[in-house]
Amino acid sequence: MTTTSSEATPGQDADSELPRPSCLEDVPGWFWPLDQRLFAWFLGAGAADTPPGDLLEMGCYLGKSTVVMGEFLRTGEKMTVCDLFGSDDGYTKEATKAFYQKSLTRRAFEANYSAFHDTLPELVEGRTDVLPELIAEDSCRFIHIDASHMYDDVADDILTAKSALREGGILVLDDYRTEHTPGVAAATWEAVFRHGLRPVMLSSNKLYGTWGDPAPLRDALLKELRGVPHCNPEIQRIAGLDVLRASRAKIPAPELVTSRHPAPAKSGAVPAPRAAGAGTPARRPSAVRRLAVDLLPPLVTRAVRRARR
Ligand SMILES: C[S@@+](CC[C@H](N)C(=O)[O-])C[C@H]1O[C@@H](n2cnc3c(N)ncnc32)[C@H](O)[C@@H]1O
Repeated sequence: MTTTSSEATPGQDADSELPRPSCLEDVPGWFWPLDQRLFAWFLGAGAADTPPGDLLEMGCYLGKSTVVMGEFLRTGEKMTVCDLFGSDDGYTKEATKAFYQKSLTRRAFEANYSAFHDTLPELVEGRTDVLPELIAEDSCRFIHIDASHMYDDVADDILTAKSALREGGILVLDDYRTEHTPGVAAATWEAVFRHGLRPVMLSSNKLYGTWGDPAPLRDALLKELRGVPHCNPEIQRIAGLDVLRASRAKIPAPELVTSRHPAPAKSGAVPAPRAAGAGTPARRPSAVRRLAVDLLPPLVTRAVRRARR
């Protein structure tokens, strides 16, 4: 059964077992500092002059990448997230189901996401193959595919993304070169060679591509990455396409994020000062917000701050 909603699952507030992340690093997941920076760039500075467009994530797990995506939602934009959330039906592989059923629930995702953002995204609880009925053609500016890692599923997800992305939109494909996910590699390069996807950037874990013109994005991103310590970006020519690449190895982790649930002060420590007049601890800028401040031109940063207010 597929359900769609942006309402929190009933009873969430009463569940004291739910996680209370005090920073992004507290959220379990597979989302490394280089990719956090790349998401921030493609959603922020790299999209600064673009009109509103929706965001879509296929496969959110406990919300680590979703939290970062949510930080860059602009006025008039919507984010949709699709996941099976450990359901009994729908996983292509039994072993995958068994793995996620150990740790993943929709309520745990909601608790994590709500620690950083006021409003939940639109949640589609089901297989990604329901998305073509739900997501309008040409409506999205950014899509992250990180759900099933089996070839048939990923190949379909890419075609869903191709139709949902508007001109110049960004597609991110997770695990395009990971040892245990050869099907993702096959579907990814098939999209490049048979369906016209143009790779812009290759990180250790994700391919960032577009069906628009990759050159302006690639050139602007190269300039940006040259300023990131230990990043050493380079361009490699792949079948006539100039593609940017960098390794995540030595990229410094972004500074720790503080959420609505700051970590308790160590005993004996002087409590952190509170903002004047505040009844609750002041919300310090999150790492993703700091990333935005680092990576975005001042105008966009101000717009992000305004939107958050
Ligand atoms: C690798 S995790 C996502 C990680 C997350 N993006 C992050 O950065 O932390 C894959 C997710 O896809 C979900 N999933 C697997 N197969 C799926 C399918 N066919 N449709 C929808 N979701 C699926 C799993 O439940 C899991 O939460």
